[in-house]
Amino acid sequence: MAQVIVVSPEYELETDYLTEFQRTRKIRQNLFYLMDGAESFYTYRGEDFKALKWQDEYAFFAQQPFWQPDRTLAFVSLGCGNAGAEKMLLRQAHAEGYPFAYFGVDSSRTMLRLADRTLADETFTRMFLLADFSTAMLRQTLEELLGIFDARLYVMLGGTFGNFEQPVIAGILQTLLTPGDYLYLDIVPLYGEPERDQALRARLLQLPQNMPLFFTHLLERLCIAPEAGELYGVETPDPDLEAWRYAYFFRAHDAFTFTCFLGDVALKSGESLELLTVRAYEPEALKTFMATYDFEFVTEYIPDVGRLAHLWQRFLFRKVEIGNGK
Ligand SMILES: C[S@@+](CC[C@H](N)C(=O)[O-])C[C@H]1O[C@@H](n2cnc3c(N)ncnc32)[C@H](O)[C@@H]1O
Repeated sequence: MAQVIVVSPEYELETDYLTEFQRTRKIRQNLFYLMDGAESFYTYRGEDFKALKWQDEYAFFAQQPFWQPDRTLAFVSLGCGNAGAEKMLLRQAHAEGYPFAYFGVDSSRTMLRLADRTLADETFTRMFLLADFSTAMLRQTLEELLGIFDARLYVMLGGTFGNFEQPVIAGILQTLLTPGDYLYLDIVPLYGEPERDQALRARLLQLPQNMPLFFTHLLERLCIAPEAGELYGVETPDPDLEAWRYAYFFRAHDAFTFTCFLGDVALKSGESLELLTVRAYEPEALKTFMATYDFEFVTEYIPDVGRLAHLWQRFLFRKVEIGNGK
């Protein structure tokens, strides 16, 4: 396996996440990716990302200022998962002689193992970091590792950004990146056409019905019998950035206690657990929102999604001096 820096041991992460879950009744989305949750994510997510043409994205990347044959680049993937989303880009960049090193950061050791397997045949320099990307420890480690590079690109792919409360994740990125660093985010955009947006909304609201195996598996990972309650989705506008937010809950029929990782959680009759959140964005509002966190919009890439169920949109931002984005 490529070098793994353990910034936070996994048992500590699990304990932290569980304590938070017991307090908030809201599941940190990365709990699902620990242990076998990593494999099942890729099984149930389907083929969406494989349908996007990496060659088009590579052509987009090749035009960006950080991608230069005579400047070293640190390519940091936050929540890298199995690294499948970036593998072909990196392979091509390496083949064309761009000098870069890859840093895959994830809070799931299983995901890092999958990433190592995905990149096993690649010959570029790489390293994995087992860490929660919101921690000061990761920030310090990255500062030490990345200082020698001419440019730094942080990518957050696979819709990860949309799973977090937006001021929280934007604040994490604001703290992690330094002025001059680039940030590449992918999100699901609204169509801006009433009929298609209506269909997207209906689809997202029905996600537990559309992806029953994914949700059943999530419950099983928490040792909750799916028949002990019901799954439902709620749509609420996200006031921070005009995004549509879809949260999925499990409501207990009767009171019961279940063991989640290292501790017990008691649910009252009718009480709900928040399992997952996804978003669909109004792109202009996202740019405005990110500007308030010191991220200046540079350009965007809209992949041809062919027959996929919805669009994807990728934004490139550059971190500016503190307060300049306000
Ligand atoms: C939606 S998946 C996307 C994975 C990958 N980027 C892709 O496109 O397939 C989110 C990933 O982020 C990781 N993750 C979520 N929250 C995290 C956190 N706070 N710190 C580090 N990794 C996190 C999860 O373990 C998971 O691998």
